[in-house]
Amino acid sequence: MKELNIGVIGFGNRAMLSIMAHQPENGCNVVAVADPYEPAQEKFKEAVKDKFRYATADYRELLADKDIDAVFILSPDYLHEEHAIAALEAGKAVYLEKPMAITIEGCDRILETAYRTGTKLFVGHNMRYFPVVLKMKEVVDSGIIGKVQAAWCRHFINYGGDAYFKDWHSEQRYTTGLLLQKGAHDIDVIHYVTGGYTKAVSAMGQLSVYNQTTDRRAPEDRGDASWHGDHWPPLEQKGCSPVIDVEDHSMVMMQLDNGVQACYLQCHYTPDAERNYTFIGTHGRVENIGDGGECQVHVWTERGPRATPDIIYYLKPLTGSHGGSDPRVVNAFLDFVRYNKIPHTNPVAARNAVAVGVLGHKSMRGAGERLQVPPPADYLVEYFANGQVKK
Ligand SMILES: NC(=O)c1ccc[n+]([C@@H]2O[C@H](COP(=O)([O-])OP(=O)(O)OC[C@H]3O[C@@H](n4cnc5c(N)ncnc54)[C@H](O)[C@@H]3O)[C@@H](O)[C@H]2O)c1
Repeated sequence: MKELNIGVIGFGNRAMLSIMAHQPENGCNVVAVADPYEPAQEKFKEAVKDKFRYATADYRELLADKDIDAVFILSPDYLHEEHAIAALEAGKAVYLEKPMAITIEGCDRILETAYRTGTKLFVGHNMRYFPVVLKMKEVVDSGIIGKVQAAWCRHFINYGGDAYFKDWHSEQRYTTGLLLQKGAHDIDVIHYVTGGYTKAVSAMGQLSVYNQTTDRRAPEDRGDASWHGDHWPPLEQKGCSPVIDVEDHSMVMMQLDNGVQACYLQCHYTPDAERNYTFIGTHGRVENIGDGGECQVHVWTERGPRATPDIIYYLKPLTGSHGGSDPRVVNAFLDFVRYNKIPHTNPVAARNAVAVGVLGHKSMRGAGERLQVPPPADYLVEYFANGQVKK
């Protein structure tokens, strides 16, 4: 395989993902960036050192470059659709950060463009490479807890005030809302582990804490979304966005096409942080204790106290951000592009997670009504299930 030249669109907090792909010793060179923010261009130049070719404010310039084979799209959510479609049309293999887009229609347009152009599309659902998620999936797939009937996820986010209420994340027009923005991960995990997709949703949510913050940044500032453990309590957060209209607490219930019922609860003002999942089957239950670093997966298969699971798996910490999943998801993209190795992720699944988020927000902003999720077109499902090869 010839050397892979990679460009990056958007070099902010997630920049490190593209730097993980910078593997000159392995024939992968990250060489160019498009980001209108000059400090981001400077940061890129330092990161890729002697492989640096250029930085531009205009992503179209990068996409017109015939020497670029693949792009990492790490721009804010509301730009994903525009950037991904343009990159696919330009024939660049795409790593697109989650969430795929902020509307169902936007996701479908991306899927259709990938299908029509035959250009490879990979959506960066790194949680499909989280050790606890993989272990819970292994337990469920083994059949030891019987046939899964229920899935719950409690999502405690102690960095919520740092990361989501100070920059573009705080506005619906840029994200649709945080149930979609952040919950896309967990909704996808529920789909992945149980092997089904949501067909109906109903949700409630509200903004009741960060709207009370008084220290707000100026509208022209970008906002500083960096995390600090001493930013506590939530009402004392400084530099919050002037406009906050996304919910800081949300609860969505889902019915899946395989008979599973699920719920996902997201709170942005907890003192601790964890994604705590449980999957309950006809013969037992599995739950993660901790979601990164040293963590455990507990399995109950006999009646008895919660404190004494029948099986405990102790998971070793992996190196790399997001519980070690980031380097693994990046390598999965490179292997998919270069060697057609099928990854754990699937763009149709990414679309279906967004669909739950979009409709969950619609339900919670209405009367909590139950809404049906429109499925993607069959030819798209088949194409992406077949590793992006047309039959
Ligand atoms: N998978 C994960 O675990 C995970 C974690 C965090 C963020 N994300 C996702 O990654 C993406 C980036 O998030 P972030 O926190 O790095 O955001 P960020 O705001 O820190 O960075 C975005 C960058 O895009 C640049 N940008 C803005 N407009 C642009 C344009 N028109 N062309 C090119 N670049 C442009 C900005 O200048 C900025 O440098 C988001 O979609 C977010 O949802 C995923």
